[in-house]
Amino acid sequence: MGMMDTLKKSLTGEEADQADSDILDTLKQEHRDVAEMLEKLVESTSAAERKSLLNSIKNALVPHLRAEEKVVYDAVLALRGKDQHIHGEEGYLEHGLGDKMLAQLGGMKDAMSAEFSAGAKVLKELVEHHVEEEEKNIWSDIEDNFSDQDRIAMNKKFLAAKKRVRIPA
Ligand SMILES: [Fe+2]
Ligand SMILES: [Fe+2]
Repeated sequence: MGMMDTLKKSLTGEEADQADSDILDTLKQEHRDVAEMLEKLVESTSAAERKSLLNSIKNALVPHLRAEEKVVYDAVLALRGKDQHIHGEEGYLEHGLGDKMLAQLGGMKDAMSAEFSAGAKVLKELVEHHVEEEEKNIWSDIEDNFSDQDRIAMNKKFLAAKKRVRIPA
């Protein structure tokens, strides 16, 4: 077996394990990864590193947001409870603020400017706040209303939906 075949095989194996996870475990890991990158972005003292981190954050965050809306929020909204409805709508609104902040940061020429530093801090705080509420409210809605099997199925849908997301330039 050639090196590429070995690589392909191990990647497929990893993807298969990941697909059998609970959706909430996948989301938790992605939240951690983005939090770590945002921390680095705020602390970075190099323009090139900031640009590259912003790009990595966008590539990770945008598919997460879109797939989460489709697979998780829409499932919570479909429960038709009053609280669940508010949780879903709040999630959509906060995702929209995240998109806006990402676009604004992407348009800033000088990554070492005070404006960029402030924007990076705002994005980090926004995401932290959002994740905290999401892991409390949306996750209780999921835990209370969906079986282990449902959540594995949601995870598969989430991973597939992420692959179809187009990331804005
Ligand atoms: Fe999330
Ligand atoms: Fe979210």
